[in-house]
Amino acid sequence: MKGKKIILGITGSIAAYKAAYLVRAFIKKGAEVQVVMTPAGKEFITPVTLSALTGKPVISEFFTANDGTWHSHVDLGLWADVMVIAPATASTIGKMANGIADNMLITTYLSAKAPVFVAPAMDLDMFAHPSTRHNLDLLRSYGNYIIEPGVGELASHLEGKGRMEEPDKIVAFIEDFFASRQELAKKKIVITAGPTYEKIDPVRFIGNYSSGKMGFALAEECAMRGADVVLIAGPVSLKTNYPSIRRIDVESAQEMYEAALREFPESDAAVMCAAVADYAPDHYSDVKIKRSGDDMVLQLRPNPDIAAALGKIKRPDQVLAGFALETDNEEENALLKLRRKNLDFIVLNSLQDSGAGFRCDTNKVTILTARGVRTSFDVKPKREVAADIVSVLSGNMKSTEE
Ligand code: C5P
Repeated sequence: MKGKKIILGITGSIAAYKAAYLVRAFIKKGAEVQVVMTPAGKEFITPVTLSALTGKPVISEFFTANDGTWHSHVDLGLWADVMVIAPATASTIGKMANGIADNMLITTYLSAKAPVFVAPAMDLDMFAHPSTRHNLDLLRSYGNYIIEPGVGELASHLEGKGRMEEPDKIVAFIEDFFASRQELAKKKIVITAGPTYEKIDPVRFIGNYSSGKMGFALAEECAMRGADVVLIAGPVSLKTNYPSIRRIDVESAQEMYEAALREFPESDAAVMCAAVADYAPDHYSDVKIKRSGDDMVLQLRPNPDIAAALGKIKRPDQVLAGFALETDNEEENALLKLRRKNLDFIVLNSLQDSGAGFRCDTNKVTILTARGVRTSFDVKPKREVAADIVSVLSGNMKSTEE
C-alpha cells in the first residue's frame, strides 16, 4: 500500500465516523489519501477531522466557495490508484449504478480509471431490498468490488446485515487486491462461452442447454485480475459490463471458430468453455419447413473443433485450456481430449455430480494438466470455481514465461 494514491469517498451514514480510523490505517501503511465527501457525509463527520488526518483539504463541492477554484473530478479520477467508498449509502450506490452525477463523489467515481471498492452501510431492510441488491449487482458488473457488510447491531438497534465492514478488514481487502489481483495485467485472454445454435430453417435450430454462466464468470475473473479479455459468446441472455472485456456475439460454431481463430494469435491464453454443437444441418432451408405426415431426416455435417484448431496453431508461449463434460470413464476421456486437442489443461465437470454442469449456479470440477497434475475441487458457486480455474491458468502462463 506504500505510496498508493487513494480516494476515499464518504457518504451520509452513521458509519462515517469509522472513516477516520480508515484514513489513519491507510496513512499508517504509507498511502496518500484524498477524501471526497457527499454533502450528507459532512453531517456525520466533520471535514476538519479528515483533512487534519490526511493533510489535504477535503473536497465535496465542484467549486471552493469564495475563491472560485474548480475541483476537477477528471484529474482526481486519473490521480487515484484506487477509489474506496466507505461508508456507501443505498442512495450513493443507486446513483453510482445509474450514473446520476449530482455531486462531486459520483462525478469522481464516473471519471475514475482505478479499481473501485464499495463498503455498503445501511439498515438491514434497505440492504435486503431488491433495488439495493440489483444496484450492487450492477456495480459488480462494472467491475467494482463490493466489500460485503457484516452482521450485527445496527444504528437502528435492529440486528442484521448492513454494518459497514470494520476499517482494518477494508484495508486488508485492498492490500490483498494489490498483492495478488493484478497478476494477469497486460495479458490477453480469449474465452468462448455459451452454446451455439445451428440453423435448420428461419425458426428452428439445433442447440443445447449451456447458459454461458461458467464462461462469463471466467471472463470476469480474468478481467478482475487485470487481463484484457475477448469473450466470444454464443446466444446467451447474460450481460457483462467490464470495461476490459470485449465481447463478440456469435451464433453458430462456424462463426465462433472464425472469431477464435482471428483473436488467438494475438493472445496469451484461451479457455474454451463453450458447448459447441458437434454437428450442424447440412442444408439450411430459407423457408420454414412444413409439417408432413412422413418421417423426416436431418442430414448433419461435423462442425470445426475450435479447441483442436487452436491446439494446432498454439505457440509454446501460449496456454490453451478446455472443458470436458463426461458421463462415463470421465478422467480417461478427459485426458484423451486433452491430448487430442493439444490443451495445457482440461476442466472436467461430471454430470454425475449434483450441483455440477449446465444451467446451475454451482459447479464441481477436477482439473487435469498435460504435466500430469490432478486437482479436485468441492461443489462451489461458479464464481469461485472460476477463481480456482483462473489460478491454474495463471500458474500455467507463468511457467510458459520461464
Ligand atoms: O470434444 P468435446 O466437445 O467434448 O470437447 C470439449 C471441449 O472442446 C470444450 O473445451 C469445448 O469448448 C471445445 N470444443 C470446441 N469446438 C468444438 C467442440 C468442442 O472448441 N467443435
